[in-house]
Amino acid sequence: MGVDTLTAPTEETTREGSEPQGGTAPNRIITILSPKGGSGKTTVGVNLAVELAARHPREVVLLDLDLQFGDVAGVLRLSPKNTIGGIARRWPVDSANLKLALTPHNSGLYTLCAPLTPAEADDVTAAHVAGVVSVLHQSFPYVIVDTDPGLSERVLSALDMCTDVVMVCATDVPSIQGLAKALEALDVVGLTAPRRHFLLNRSDAKVGVDLDEIEKTVGAPIDVRVPSSIDVVKATNGGVPIMQSRSNDAIVKSFERLADRFDSSANAADAPSSGGRRLFKRKG
Ligand SMILES: Nc1ncnc2c1ncn2[C@@H]1O[C@H](COP(=O)(O)OP(=O)(O)OP(=O)(O)O)[C@@H](O)[C@H]1O
Ligand SMILES: [Mg+2]
Repeated sequence: MGVDTLTAPTEETTREGSEPQGGTAPNRIITILSPKGGSGKTTVGVNLAVELAARHPREVVLLDLDLQFGDVAGVLRLSPKNTIGGIARRWPVDSANLKLALTPHNSGLYTLCAPLTPAEADDVTAAHVAGVVSVLHQSFPYVIVDTDPGLSERVLSALDMCTDVVMVCATDVPSIQGLAKALEALDVVGLTAPRRHFLLNRSDAKVGVDLDEIEKTVGAPIDVRVPSSIDVVKATNGGVPIMQSRSNDAIVKSFERLADRFDSSANAADAPSSGGRRLFKRKG
């Protein structure tokens, strides 16, 4: 792997510019979005990443952009030695240092974890986010970005670069209305290029809002439904994502369906190539 200095992304490293030549689909940058807290972003991001890594070991990186209170490391029981905070403080850094900052997980997934303290989050700017996402995109077929609630500049920076957005919504009115407002805001600022995937979390909760109403308010059909289950909470608390423990069939099937939307082997017509340069060589 060459050692490229990380700077602000150039035209060549943006979404369009990184598309491989020869008609193959681009690698994927998948941002997990929900303007409201607690709707299930991290659960979705972690399980999608683990499932894609099971299918494509060492080709998936999960970036925790919940910079103040990111919990990817906690949910995966990782003890990161380096984080995106350290990358920002050593800026500009080269891709070799970025490689050293990744923390591997036993599922075959790599993570770039959030800073260890909320104060360190201030060190990370939108330009850092763009630079980091850009280099990861050149190296990994799948970059998955977990985010914090809201549409901060740093989240917008990831959205500006991504190929796909997974819009996570819970079944409560604030979550539904919040997502509708967020999508309107993205339309206003022209962030319409990423393909949108609408995931309804806790979709079977009987809380007096029907699915038609949710689709109408958000203005998009629901693509994937994830039911509610105590097994999800147990998986979060136990440090083993449900796509590894496979303790609940319905939840597993939901996340498989979500992964199928991005997976070349599951859906050739809609597939990203695995043609990006890799930071890590495959074993065997
Ligand atoms: N389908 C589900 N069924 C039951 N519990 C769930 C489900 N999805 C998520 N949870 C639980 O809800 C809690 C919040 O989920 P999660 O941390 O993924 O949300 P988040 O959107 O990332 O929150 P934050 O905005 O704070 O980052 C966790 O305890 C998780 O285990
Ligand atoms: Mg979260």
